[in-house]
Formats: sequence, C-alpha cells, structure tokens
Amino acid sequence: MARRVVIIGAGGHAQVIADIMLRSADAGSDIVPIGYLDDNVDIIGQHRLDLPVLGSTDYLQFVPHDAVIIGIGDNRIRYRMFNSLQRSGESIVTVCHPSAVIAPDVSIGSGTVVAARTVINPGSIIGANVIINTGSIIDHHCYIGNHTHIAPGSVLGGGVTVGEQSLVGMGAILLPQCTVGNGCTIGAGACVHRAVSDGLTVIGVPARPLPRQA
Ligand SMILES: CC(C)(COP(=O)(O)OP(=O)(O)OC[C@H]1O[C@@H](n2cnc3c(N)ncnc32)[C@H](O)[C@@H]1OP(=O)(O)O)[C@@H](O)C(=O)NCCC(=O)NCCS
Repeated sequence: MARRVVIIGAGGHAQVIADIMLRSADAGSDIVPIGYLDDNVDIIGQHRLDLPVLGSTDYLQFVPHDAVIIGIGDNRIRYRMFNSLQRSGESIVTVCHPSAVIAPDVSIGSGTVVAARTVINPGSIIGANVIINTGSIIDHHCYIGNHTHIAPGSVLGGGVTVGEQSLVGMGAILLPQCTVGNGCTIGAGACVHRAVSDGLTVIGVPARPLPRQA
C-alpha cells in the first residue's frame, strides 16, 4: 500500500526530494509525496512539481499522512526539525534516487536523502537526516554522521569519517582515511588531506583553516 509522505519545506532542496520520490514511485517504490509544508505563508496554495504547498509546518497534524521527510538544506535547522518530528512520533522516511548506486551492505539512517547519480560503496555507514547530494561519491568503509550534508560532486576516498552536522562543500575531495569532526565546513573545491577538528572551516588545495580561524 502507498505511503503518503509530507515534505517539510518547499524550497530548492525540498523540490529535489519531491523529484526523487516521484521518480522512485515510477520505479516501483511505495512512497508517494503528497505536498509540502512551509512557513513562508505567501506560497501556501502554490504548486512545485505539481505538488501543493499545503500550509505552514504547524499544519502537519491536520494533513492525513503516513510519514514525513525534511527538505531543508541547512544542517542546524534540519537537525532541530528532525528532533522535533521524532519527539512527536512521526515516521521519517529515507529516500534514494533510482539512479543512485548503493552497495547492498551499506546502512542508511532514517530521514536521509540520497540524490541522483551518487555512488556509495561497500562497508559505508550513513547516519540519519543526512544529505548525500547529487553526483557525490562515498567510497568504501566511510562513516557519515547524523545531520551532515555531502554536497554535489564531492568525493570521499575509502575509510573517510565525517562527524555530525558538518558540510562537505561542492566538489570537495577528502583523501582516504581522513577524519572530519562535528560541525565542520569543508569549502567548495577543497582537498582535505589531514584531520579537520570539530567546528573548523577549511578551504583550498590543500585545505587549510579559513584565515580568520587560523
Ligand atoms: C568556505 C565557505 C563556507 C566560506 O564562506 P564565508 O565564511 O562566507 O567566507 P567568505 O565568502 O567571506 O570568504 C572568505 C575568504 O575565503 C575565500 N573563500 C571562500 N570560499 C572559498 C572556497 N570554497 N575556496 C577557496 N577560497 C574560498 C574568499 O575568497 C575570501 O578570501 P579573501 O578574504 O582573501 O577575500 C564558503 O565559501 C563555501 O565554500 N561554502 C560551501 C558551499 C556549498 O558547497 N554548499 C552546498 C550547496 S548544495
């Protein structure tokens, strides 16, 4: 039986998730998106990818549904929303684009979004409420902590660990066995070759702390 899923948020990332679910449904998944909830009251009643913006987020209790997914890119906001939805007993689905290549032994937590043309190789563990964004590559035996975002086109070598609520920016490269802590930001295009401590932002090739943090 179809599972009706409400998307929290209606911005760009939420629409990417809607697209993933619509394509997954075409490919035989039982998950069916029914619309968005967004606190921008100006867009209520509008449509995105033919799905309606049903109301603001506090309207969830009035929408018949089976599960939710969070369509918000910002890690901190997504983290808060995830905890709040879990506390209220919501089922939070995991969605994977049909074009993603995921090894059979990979574990993926609830609420995680795996976008188009990603590859996740054997032995990797992906936490809850994570975004594995378009075209990124997670090689074998990586660990990605909860609420983290691996942005489009980034490449993680084998055995890489990324902590919780970190952002690996677009096109970044993390060399094999590197460790990135919690709450880190890896700048777009950076090449990380050694450990990055909690809370640090690094940029460039090779990656170094932003000057104001160094
Ligand atoms: C690293 C980053 C977080 C810095 O953002 P910020 O704190 O607002 O920094 P600023 O834009 O003020 O730039 C600070 C300095 O770093 C440089 N810089 C910023 N981003 C850089 C990057 N990715 N690579 C190299 N240098 C960078 C700027 O040129 C600037 O240098 P200057 O002081 O010599 O002029 C941001 O630029 C970035 O790369 N974010 C990742 C975005 C992303 O991939 N999001 C995912 C979307 S799906």
